[in-house]
Amino acid sequence: MSLPFDGAISAYFEEAAPKEIRKAIDDAGKDDILNPSYPYDAEIFKGDYKDQYKALQVELVKLQASVKASDQRVAIVFEGRDAAGKGGTIKRFRENLNPRGARVVALSKPTETEATQWYFQRYISQLPSGGEIVFFDRSWYNRGVVEQVFEFCTHSQREHFFSQVPDFEKMLVDEGIQLFKFWLNVGRAEQLRRFLARERDPLKQWKLSWIDVEGLKRWDAYSKAIEETLERSQSPHAPWTIVRSDDKKRARLEAIRHVLQSVDYANKDKDAIGSADPLICGGPEIWDG
Ligand code: ADP
Ligand code: AMP
Ligand code: MLT
Repeated sequence: MSLPFDGAISAYFEEAAPKEIRKAIDDAGKDDILNPSYPYDAEIFKGDYKDQYKALQVELVKLQASVKASDQRVAIVFEGRDAAGKGGTIKRFRENLNPRGARVVALSKPTETEATQWYFQRYISQLPSGGEIVFFDRSWYNRGVVEQVFEFCTHSQREHFFSQVPDFEKMLVDEGIQLFKFWLNVGRAEQLRRFLARERDPLKQWKLSWIDVEGLKRWDAYSKAIEETLERSQSPHAPWTIVRSDDKKRARLEAIRHVLQSVDYANKDKDAIGSADPLICGGPEIWDG
Protein backbone atom coordinates (compact mmCIF):
# COMPACT_ATOMS: atom_id res chain seq x y z
CA MET A 1 0.00 0.00 0.00
CA SER A 2 1.41 3.36 -0.91
CA LEU A 3 1.81 6.03 1.69
CA PRO A 4 -0.31 9.13 1.38
CA PHE A 5 1.54 12.45 1.03
CA ASP A 6 4.64 10.60 -0.25
CA GLY A 7 6.32 10.71 3.12
CA ALA A 8 5.58 14.40 3.66
CA ILE A 9 5.82 14.03 7.43
CA SER A 10 9.26 12.40 7.38
CA ALA A 11 10.39 14.95 4.81
CA TYR A 12 9.36 17.73 7.18
CA PHE A 13 11.13 15.95 10.02
CA GLU A 14 14.36 15.57 8.04
CA GLU A 15 14.42 18.92 6.32
CA ALA A 16 12.34 21.56 8.03
CA ALA A 17 11.61 20.72 11.67
CA PRO A 18 13.29 22.99 14.25
CA LYS A 19 16.57 21.42 15.37
CA GLU A 20 15.59 21.06 19.01
CA ILE A 21 12.38 19.26 18.05
CA ARG A 22 14.26 16.85 15.84
CA LYS A 23 16.87 16.25 18.50
CA ALA A 24 14.22 15.61 21.16
CA ILE A 25 12.67 12.91 18.97
CA ASP A 26 15.98 11.38 17.92
CA ASP A 27 17.26 11.15 21.49
CA ALA A 28 14.09 9.88 23.12
CA GLY A 29 13.30 6.37 24.21
CA LYS A 30 9.88 4.99 23.32
CA ASP A 31 8.27 5.84 26.65
CA ASP A 32 10.06 9.13 27.29
CA ILE A 33 8.02 12.28 27.62
CA LEU A 34 9.20 14.80 25.03
CA ASN A 35 7.58 18.00 26.25
CA PRO A 36 10.12 19.83 28.46
CA SER A 37 7.36 21.51 30.45
CA TYR A 38 5.46 18.28 31.18
CA PRO A 39 5.33 17.73 34.95
CA TYR A 40 6.49 14.07 34.88
CA ASP A 41 9.61 12.48 33.38
CA ALA A 42 7.98 9.26 32.31
CA GLU A 43 4.64 7.78 31.38
CA ILE A 44 2.36 6.51 34.11
CA PHE A 45 3.30 3.06 35.41
CA LYS A 46 1.27 0.51 33.43
CA GLY A 47 -0.11 -1.26 36.51
CA ASP A 48 -1.38 2.00 37.98
CA TYR A 49 -2.99 2.89 34.70
CA LYS A 50 -4.77 -0.44 34.42
CA ASP A 51 -6.10 -0.35 37.97
CA GLN A 52 -7.40 3.18 37.72
CA TYR A 53 -8.75 2.66 34.23
CA LYS A 54 -10.76 -0.37 35.29
CA ALA A 55 -12.25 1.39 38.30
CA LEU A 56 -13.19 4.41 36.20
CA GLN A 57 -14.82 2.22 33.55
CA VAL A 58 -17.13 0.73 36.16
CA GLU A 59 -18.11 4.24 37.22
CA LEU A 60 -18.76 5.27 33.61
CA VAL A 61 -21.17 2.38 33.21
CA LYS A 62 -23.04 3.54 36.32
CA LEU A 63 -23.04 7.07 35.00
CA GLN A 64 -24.61 6.02 31.73
CA ALA A 65 -27.27 3.98 33.53
CA SER A 66 -28.15 7.04 35.56
CA VAL A 67 -28.15 9.36 32.55
CA LYS A 68 -30.56 6.99 30.81
CA ALA A 69 -32.77 6.48 33.86
CA SER A 70 -33.20 10.17 34.52
CA ASP A 71 -33.13 11.47 30.95
CA GLN A 72 -30.07 13.59 31.52
CA ARG A 73 -28.28 15.16 28.56
CA VAL A 74 -24.50 15.32 28.48
CA ALA A 75 -22.39 16.94 25.75
CA ILE A 76 -18.62 16.56 25.87
CA VAL A 77 -16.52 18.62 23.49
CA PHE A 78 -13.00 17.42 22.67
CA GLU A 79 -10.66 19.96 21.18
CA GLY A 80 -6.94 20.03 20.67
CA ARG A 81 -4.30 20.19 17.99
CA ASP A 82 -4.05 17.39 15.47
CA ALA A 83 -2.84 14.20 17.15
CA ALA A 84 -3.58 15.55 20.62
CA GLY A 85 -5.53 12.37 21.34
CA LYS A 86 -9.14 13.40 20.91
CA GLY A 87 -10.24 10.27 19.08
CA GLY A 88 -8.34 7.96 21.41
CA THR A 89 -9.78 9.57 24.53
CA ILE A 90 -13.32 9.33 23.17
CA LYS A 91 -12.71 5.67 22.38
CA ARG A 92 -11.76 5.01 26.03
CA PHE A 93 -14.82 6.85 27.33
CA ARG A 94 -17.05 4.67 25.19
CA GLU A 95 -15.28 1.35 25.56
CA ASN A 96 -17.83 -0.19 27.91
CA LEU A 97 -20.82 2.01 27.21
CA ASN A 98 -23.93 1.12 25.29
CA PRO A 99 -23.30 2.79 21.92
CA ARG A 100 -26.99 3.59 21.80
CA GLY A 101 -26.77 6.59 24.07
CA ALA A 102 -23.05 7.31 23.68
CA ARG A 103 -22.84 8.89 20.26
CA VAL A 104 -19.79 10.40 18.57
CA VAL A 105 -20.17 13.49 16.43
CA ALA A 106 -17.24 14.10 14.08
CA LEU A 107 -18.52 16.42 11.40
CA SER A 108 -16.71 17.01 8.11
CA LYS A 109 -16.04 20.45 6.78
CA PRO A 110 -19.29 22.35 6.19
CA THR A 111 -21.11 21.52 2.95
CA GLU A 112 -22.07 24.30 0.57
CA THR A 113 -25.51 24.41 2.11
CA GLU A 114 -24.21 24.32 5.68
CA ALA A 115 -21.87 27.16 4.85
CA THR A 116 -24.92 29.36 4.18
CA GLN A 117 -26.43 28.54 7.59
CA TRP A 118 -25.90 29.97 11.04
CA TYR A 119 -22.51 28.58 12.07
CA PHE A 120 -23.90 26.75 15.12
CA GLN A 121 -26.85 25.26 13.26
CA ARG A 122 -25.38 21.92 12.24
CA TYR A 123 -24.08 21.34 15.77
CA ILE A 124 -27.46 22.09 17.35
CA SER A 125 -29.09 19.20 15.52
CA GLN A 126 -26.44 16.90 17.03
CA LEU A 127 -26.99 17.90 20.67
CA PRO A 128 -28.00 15.11 23.07
CA SER A 129 -31.58 13.98 23.58
CA GLY A 130 -32.66 12.79 27.03
CA GLY A 131 -30.57 9.81 28.16
CA GLU A 132 -27.73 10.54 25.74
CA ILE A 133 -24.05 11.35 26.13
CA VAL A 134 -22.68 12.95 22.98
CA PHE A 135 -18.96 13.13 22.29
CA PHE A 136 -17.90 15.91 19.93
CA ASP A 137 -14.63 15.05 18.17
CA ARG A 138 -13.99 18.67 17.21
CA SER A 139 -16.78 21.17 17.39
CA TRP A 140 -17.86 24.74 16.76
CA TYR A 141 -14.36 25.68 18.00
CA ASN A 142 -13.04 24.96 14.51
CA ARG A 143 -13.93 28.57 13.82
CA GLY A 144 -11.62 29.79 16.55
CA VAL A 145 -8.60 27.71 15.57
CA VAL A 146 -8.22 25.66 12.36
CA GLU A 147 -10.44 27.95 10.30
CA GLN A 148 -8.30 30.90 11.35
CA VAL A 149 -4.98 29.20 10.78
CA PHE A 150 -6.02 28.00 7.29
CA GLU A 151 -8.10 31.04 6.42
CA PHE A 152 -11.26 29.00 5.97
CA CYS A 153 -13.24 31.86 7.47
CA THR A 154 -13.00 35.62 7.35
CA HIS A 155 -11.97 37.85 10.20
CA SER A 156 -15.51 39.11 10.63
CA GLN A 157 -16.96 35.57 10.67
CA ARG A 158 -14.56 34.69 13.46
CA GLU A 159 -15.34 37.84 15.43
CA HIS A 160 -19.04 37.09 15.03
CA PHE A 161 -18.37 33.59 16.35
CA PHE A 162 -16.60 34.92 19.44
CA SER A 163 -19.42 37.38 20.07
CA GLN A 164 -21.97 34.54 20.00
CA VAL A 165 -20.22 31.57 21.58
CA PRO A 166 -20.65 32.55 25.26
CA ASP A 167 -24.39 33.14 24.79
CA PHE A 168 -24.75 30.01 22.70
CA GLU A 169 -23.18 27.90 25.43
CA LYS A 170 -25.16 29.71 28.11
CA MET A 171 -28.35 28.65 26.36
CA LEU A 172 -27.24 25.02 26.28
CA VAL A 173 -26.42 25.07 29.97
CA ASP A 174 -29.61 26.94 30.95
CA GLU A 175 -31.50 24.38 28.93
CA GLY A 176 -30.14 21.71 31.26
CA ILE A 177 -27.51 20.18 29.01
CA GLN A 178 -24.38 19.29 30.97
CA LEU A 179 -21.60 20.68 28.84
CA PHE A 180 -17.91 19.81 29.09
CA LYS A 181 -15.20 21.48 27.03
CA PHE A 182 -11.87 19.68 26.98
CA TRP A 183 -8.76 21.13 25.42
CA LEU A 184 -6.14 18.38 25.03
CA ASN A 185 -2.71 19.91 25.09
CA VAL A 186 0.16 18.22 23.25
CA GLY A 187 3.72 19.49 22.83
CA ARG A 188 5.37 20.08 19.49
CA ALA A 189 7.84 17.20 19.49
CA GLU A 190 5.23 14.72 20.73
CA GLN A 191 2.80 15.81 18.01
CA LEU A 192 5.45 15.26 15.36
CA ARG A 193 6.39 11.88 16.84
CA ARG A 194 2.73 10.81 16.59
CA PHE A 195 2.49 12.01 12.99
CA LEU A 196 5.63 10.03 12.09
CA ALA A 197 4.11 6.93 13.67
CA ARG A 198 0.88 7.47 11.75
CA GLU A 199 2.74 7.80 8.50
CA ARG A 200 4.44 4.43 9.09
CA ASP A 201 1.35 2.57 10.25
CA PRO A 202 -1.16 1.48 7.59
CA LEU A 203 -3.82 1.29 10.29
CA LYS A 204 -3.28 4.87 11.31
CA GLN A 205 -2.66 6.59 8.01
CA TRP A 206 -6.33 7.52 7.72
CA LYS A 207 -5.79 9.91 10.59
CA LEU A 208 -3.41 12.03 8.52
CA SER A 209 -4.58 14.79 6.22
CA TRP A 210 -2.95 17.60 4.28
CA ILE A 211 -4.05 19.89 7.11
CA ASP A 212 -1.76 17.95 9.45
CA VAL A 213 1.13 18.22 7.01
CA GLU A 214 0.59 21.92 6.36
CA GLY A 215 -0.17 22.56 10.01
CA LEU A 216 3.32 21.44 11.03
CA LYS A 217 4.68 24.68 9.64
CA ARG A 218 2.01 26.71 11.35
CA TRP A 219 2.68 25.77 14.97
CA ASP A 220 2.93 29.41 16.06
CA ALA A 221 -0.18 30.52 14.19
CA TYR A 222 -2.01 27.67 15.95
CA SER A 223 -0.63 28.75 19.34
CA LYS A 224 -1.87 32.26 18.82
CA ALA A 225 -5.33 31.13 17.63
CA ILE A 226 -5.65 28.69 20.53
CA GLU A 227 -4.63 31.22 23.16
CA GLU A 228 -7.15 33.70 21.82
CA THR A 229 -9.87 31.07 21.63
CA LEU A 230 -9.38 29.83 25.17
CA GLU A 231 -9.43 33.38 26.47
CA ARG A 232 -12.45 34.58 24.53
CA SER A 233 -14.61 31.54 25.15
CA GLN A 234 -13.82 31.00 28.81
CA SER A 235 -16.94 31.59 30.92
CA PRO A 236 -18.25 30.65 34.36
CA HIS A 237 -21.11 28.63 32.82
CA ALA A 238 -18.93 26.78 30.29
CA PRO A 239 -15.33 26.71 31.50
CA TRP A 240 -12.53 25.00 29.63
CA THR A 241 -10.80 22.00 31.12
CA ILE A 242 -7.24 21.68 29.90
CA VAL A 243 -5.77 18.18 29.91
CA ARG A 244 -2.07 17.78 29.25
CA SER A 245 -1.94 14.87 26.82
CA ASP A 246 1.75 14.21 26.17
CA ASP A 247 1.13 11.02 28.13
CA LYS A 248 -2.08 9.73 26.58
CA LYS A 249 -2.80 7.38 29.45
CA ARG A 250 -2.71 10.03 32.15
CA ALA A 251 -4.81 12.26 29.89
CA ARG A 252 -7.51 9.61 29.46
CA LEU A 253 -7.73 8.94 33.18
CA GLU A 254 -7.97 12.64 34.02
CA ALA A 255 -10.61 13.43 31.41
CA ILE A 256 -12.81 10.52 32.48
CA ARG A 257 -12.30 11.34 36.15
CA HIS A 258 -13.29 14.95 35.59
CA VAL A 259 -16.62 13.98 34.02
CA LEU A 260 -17.35 11.41 36.72
CA GLN A 261 -16.67 13.95 39.45
CA SER A 262 -18.91 16.55 37.84
CA VAL A 263 -22.02 14.56 36.94
CA ASP A 264 -24.48 13.31 39.57
CA TYR A 265 -25.26 9.63 39.22
CA ALA A 266 -26.56 6.82 41.40
CA ASN A 267 -24.12 4.67 43.42
CA LYS A 268 -21.18 6.97 42.81
CA ASP A 269 -18.05 5.52 44.39
CA LYS A 270 -15.83 8.49 45.19
CA ASP A 271 -12.91 6.29 46.20
CA ALA A 272 -12.99 4.51 42.85
CA ILE A 273 -12.98 7.85 41.04
CA GLY A 274 -10.05 9.12 43.07
CA SER A 275 -8.82 12.67 42.99
CA ALA A 276 -7.80 14.82 40.07
CA ASP A 277 -4.16 15.49 39.27
CA PRO A 278 -3.94 19.30 39.11
CA LEU A 279 -0.68 19.07 37.17
CA ILE A 280 -2.44 17.27 34.31
CA CYS A 281 -5.99 18.58 34.46
CA GLY A 282 -6.95 22.17 35.21
CA GLY A 283 -8.13 25.49 33.84
CA PRO A 284 -6.63 27.57 31.02
CA GLU A 285 -3.75 28.53 33.32
CA ILE A 286 -2.14 25.13 32.69
CA TRP A 287 -2.22 25.57 28.91
CA ASP A 288 1.27 26.46 27.76
CA GLY A 289 1.23 26.45 23.99
P1 ADP B 1 -9.02 15.69 11.75
O1 ADP B 1 -7.79 16.18 12.43
O2 ADP B 1 -10.26 16.04 12.49
O3 ADP B 1 -8.95 14.26 11.35
P2 ADP B 1 -8.21 17.47 9.56
O4 ADP B 1 -6.92 17.67 10.29
O5 ADP B 1 -8.16 17.05 8.14
O6 ADP B 1 -9.17 16.48 10.35
O7 ADP B 1 -9.05 18.82 9.59
C1 ADP B 1 -9.20 19.56 10.74
C2 ADP B 1 -10.55 20.24 10.77
O8 ADP B 1 -10.63 21.24 9.76
C3 ADP B 1 -11.72 19.28 10.54
O9 ADP B 1 -12.73 19.53 11.47
C4 ADP B 1 -12.19 19.65 9.14
O10 ADP B 1 -13.56 19.42 8.97
C5 ADP B 1 -11.87 21.13 9.09
N1 ADP B 1 -11.75 21.60 7.72
C6 ADP B 1 -11.03 21.05 6.72
N2 ADP B 1 -11.17 21.75 5.57
C7 ADP B 1 -12.01 22.77 5.84
C8 ADP B 1 -12.57 23.84 5.09
N3 ADP B 1 -12.28 24.02 3.79
N4 ADP B 1 -13.41 24.70 5.72
C9 ADP B 1 -13.70 24.55 7.02
N5 ADP B 1 -13.22 23.55 7.79
C10 ADP B 1 -12.39 22.68 7.22
P1 AMP C 1 -1.91 36.36 12.02
O1 AMP C 1 -2.96 36.49 13.09
O2 AMP C 1 -1.91 37.50 11.06
O3 AMP C 1 -0.55 35.99 12.54
O4 AMP C 1 -2.40 35.14 11.14
C1 AMP C 1 -2.42 33.80 11.56
C2 AMP C 1 -3.01 33.00 10.45
O5 AMP C 1 -4.37 33.32 10.26
C3 AMP C 1 -2.33 33.23 9.11
O6 AMP C 1 -2.36 32.05 8.34
C4 AMP C 1 -3.19 34.31 8.51
O7 AMP C 1 -3.10 34.34 7.12
C5 AMP C 1 -4.57 33.88 8.99
N1 AMP C 1 -5.43 35.03 9.07
C6 AMP C 1 -5.11 36.24 9.56
N2 AMP C 1 -6.12 37.09 9.46
C7 AMP C 1 -7.13 36.41 8.89
C8 AMP C 1 -8.45 36.75 8.51
N3 AMP C 1 -8.92 37.96 8.64
N4 AMP C 1 -9.22 35.80 7.97
C9 AMP C 1 -8.75 34.58 7.79
N5 AMP C 1 -7.53 34.20 8.13
C10 AMP C 1 -6.70 35.10 8.64
C1 MLT D 1 -6.45 13.24 17.69
O1 MLT D 1 -5.73 12.25 17.81
O2 MLT D 1 -6.36 14.25 18.40
C2 MLT D 1 -7.53 13.27 16.64
O3 MLT D 1 -8.60 12.51 17.02
C3 MLT D 1 -7.04 12.83 15.28
C4 MLT D 1 -6.17 13.85 14.63
O4 MLT D 1 -5.82 14.84 15.22
O5 MLT D 1 -5.79 13.66 13.45
